[in-house]
Amino acid sequence: MINLGIGQPDFPIAQHILDAAERAVRDGPYGYSSAQGEFVLREAVSERYCNENYYVSPDNVVVFPGAKTGLLFAALSFGDSETQILYPDPGFPIYSSVARFSGAEPVAYPLDENSDFGLRADDVLSRITKKTRLLILNSPGNPTGGVTTIPELDLLVRGLLDYPDVFILSDEIYRQIYYGQDKPRSLLHYPEIRERLILIDGCSKTYAMTGWRLGFSVWPTSLINLVNRLCINSHSCVNNVAQAAGKAALTGPQDSVASMIRTFTRRKTILVEALNEIPGISALSPGGAFYVFPNITEIGITSLELQTELLNFAHVATIAGTSFGSAGEGFLRLSFATDQSRLEEACERISTYLNR
Ligand SMILES: Cc1ncc(COP(=O)(O)O)c(C=O)c1O
Repeated sequence: MINLGIGQPDFPIAQHILDAAERAVRDGPYGYSSAQGEFVLREAVSERYCNENYYVSPDNVVVFPGAKTGLLFAALSFGDSETQILYPDPGFPIYSSVARFSGAEPVAYPLDENSDFGLRADDVLSRITKKTRLLILNSPGNPTGGVTTIPELDLLVRGLLDYPDVFILSDEIYRQIYYGQDKPRSLLHYPEIRERLILIDGCSKTYAMTGWRLGFSVWPTSLINLVNRLCINSHSCVNNVAQAAGKAALTGPQDSVASMIRTFTRRKTILVEALNEIPGISALSPGGAFYVFPNITEIGITSLELQTELLNFAHVATIAGTSFGSAGEGFLRLSFATDQSRLEEACERISTYLNR
């Protein structure tokens, strides 16, 4: 079985990160620490954004046991039976799940293949109602690898000025993993929405630390007390060893990230080319993240049927686009967090199976 389903980088963790963790195990601190996150880590997050000329105070940074906790807390901060939360479709399935759990009505906005799966401002703005309290954005996106263009972001932010009650949750966990010339723009770029922007990021993808459970985020001052209370009353504080490792990850050498992106770039090119050679499949080259989301409609069966057939007969695990929302029908998600020879072998198997 070749597993192209999994969404975690298959790279070793950089030595300086492991060394920092080892020191923290040896030297402590061992007790409960700040619910909002250790100051040195919040400072490191703040410095990272300041280096990009986005001023972020450590007081607005909140550390979580994984980015997912931040998504849940953001939904809980806004969701009730009177509200709607807008989310991308196809999108990370947790968005609609946490929206529904909060009591809100999840309302999907589409991401279209014709726009390279980048968001179109009109598709979002036209779905805002009096009940909309939170808008979820994700660029580069899971499952498509789509990146929202700067003109569309400008249009969106301009449009959002007409809706001052709508908060924005920008999930930027894949922002360091991109294949274009420029890094995808952060929503921190727009001071006019800063007082209603929640930004989610973390170490899972950039530093291949999925199992360490370390997310970080930026919250507006008006929500800091609320989110702190959620932290205190749920996880108390994030594991101190993971936080020490996270500080080393953010402030130490970044060559392992650059090397990971070079490898991802090579794999992406090979995978996209190989998929496009298979009759019935057409794949866009993703702008970021490590997923390809090929169109499989010409094959003439549903995404779930194809996922099942590839699993059972080609022994390749993929994920049906419909696992990411109804707009994912006609697509499959393939992760290239797998080495090159396995990717080539997977495409061979898919091609042989479909030809037969
Ligand atoms: C878009 C997106 N956001 C958040 C996460 C979760 O990150 P974490 O492992 O830090 O909880 C994922 C993981 O797959 C993801 O794809």
